[in-house]
Amino acid sequence: MPFPQPITRAKVAVRDGALYSDRFDDIYHSVAGGIEEARHVFVAGNQLPKRWEEVGRFTIVETGFGCGLNFLAAWDELNRSNINTRLDFVSVEKHPFARDDLARVLHAWPQLGTLAHDLLEVYPPLTPGFHRLHPAPGATAATYSVAAKAKHGLARAGFDVQKKAGFAHKREMLAARFPGVRETFAETRRVIVVGAGIAGASCALALARQGIEVDLIERASHPGAETSSNPAALVRPFVTLDSGVRSRFGWAAFLYAVRRYRELNNQANFRWHGTGVLQLARDKAHLKRLQRALAQFALPDSLVRLVDARDATGLCGAPIREPGLWCSSAGYVDGQLACQAMVEKGGASIALIAGTEAARVERSDRGLQVLDVANNLLAQGDNVILANGCQAQALIAEHDLQLRPVRGQVTEIPLTSSDLRTPVCRDGYVTPGVNGIH
Ligand SMILES: Cc1cc2nc3c(=O)[nH]c(=O)nc-3n(C[C@H](O)[C@H](O)[C@H](O)COP(=O)(O)OP(=O)(O)OC[C@H]3O[C@@H](n4cnc5c(N)ncnc54)[C@H](O)[C@@H]3O)c2cc1C
Ligand SMILES: C[S@@+](CC[C@H](N)C(=O)[O-])C[C@H]1O[C@@H](n2cnc3c(N)ncnc32)[C@H](O)[C@@H]1O
Repeated sequence: MPFPQPITRAKVAVRDGALYSDRFDDIYHSVAGGIEEARHVFVAGNQLPKRWEEVGRFTIVETGFGCGLNFLAAWDELNRSNINTRLDFVSVEKHPFARDDLARVLHAWPQLGTLAHDLLEVYPPLTPGFHRLHPAPGATAATYSVAAKAKHGLARAGFDVQKKAGFAHKREMLAARFPGVRETFAETRRVIVVGAGIAGASCALALARQGIEVDLIERASHPGAETSSNPAALVRPFVTLDSGVRSRFGWAAFLYAVRRYRELNNQANFRWHGTGVLQLARDKAHLKRLQRALAQFALPDSLVRLVDARDATGLCGAPIREPGLWCSSAGYVDGQLACQAMVEKGGASIALIAGTEAARVERSDRGLQVLDVANNLLAQGDNVILANGCQAQALIAEHDLQLRPVRGQVTEIPLTSSDLRTPVCRDGYVTPGVNGIH
């Protein structure tokens, strides 16, 4: 039996006006009102507001996410209060609702305002395993103006800005949402990250979001200048029969990355190209293995499905002669722009020290220090993250990291097919035209 097991999703049914599970022959919430019950039993019953006031970070572990009423009620309460705590909510669910079903269910509680929508925005497709979600805490801004000045001003202040249909005679409006960097009382206050490639920039932003100050040291003049500079790097899952840690980590990481890249849209000219990606099998045996992997994990069609040559041609826009695996939520990014966008998104919490090569890490009585080759102090902090690829070894000679470089190559071909809308991959891959080249 593979672990984790394929998901059997919850079905939407109603009994006596309450959401009902025939599997457990039980209702999900009180007939008298689901959200009111969650506020009374879960929020007030656990004295959450009072306990939040006492700590900077609070973790709730819940068995049975159901339709998320406890989560939403707790989140709503925290948003309404002025309490500046970070809430980590861990929920385990054996039979989750599919996203569309959850949307139908949550429709019954308009008093949740935009929170239900915010949850649905990050709610993952039904893949077994861990999913780390960061729903935006709902701070929004809207303006009838779509002037570049308003748009860039909001984006610079850290808002995610989108154009939407306007009211009455206005064709468009701007809607902006603040992703919410909440200050916390983290024990670690300052971290040094060496290397501003995709690894270092991602770490720096993740720390900044937790209120940790980051010194990001990069030897090149800007982030994403080396291996991560690929102008069309694919972001896609590897579908394999393996149900081990690597496969589970791969799925969770892929879904997490897509959510994060979507949030970064429009930051520092970055764009998430969520075109979908077609994966062709190497041969007939490989196609069979892909088929078995899909069946084994019962992955939803909306996430990944087998398509024949005709469907593949329709999806990709260029002639495809073989069946393949279509992953509609995959896509590609400009790696360099992604790194720059992440650093920019971190705002004042990330101090980028560019054009500076780190040579040594040392312990001192004031924490860890990073020095350059002439022994100048570059930064000082509680922790150091080495994200400088294979050069990491040179900074800590005392540990054998057993790093091994892996060669890769990008070939640039002048645009031959402007019809190709999505990347197509087998061992290598071809992308749609990016600045006139494939
Ligand atoms: C041709 C090719 C195609 C690829 N395509 C894909 C793809 O489609 N999808 C995908 O997911 N992955 C792809 N990869 C893999 C991916 O590019 C790498 O895994 C990723 O970029 C590694 O990121 P990184 O941050 O670890 O390293 P890097 O991007 O190399 O970042 C390390 C940074 O550290 C800096 N640095 C090094 N030493 C020091 C020092 N002493 N002091 C200060 N700074 C220092 C460097 O300047 C560099 O900016 C591809 C790789 C290649 C080569
Ligand atoms: C009453 S509902 C939970 C309501 C939910 N806490 C809310 O706020 O909406 C109980 C949930 O527990 C889930 N469940 C039951 N047994 C489980 C198990 N062994 N492991 C994980 N989840 C389980 C059910 O699928 C169901 O969604």
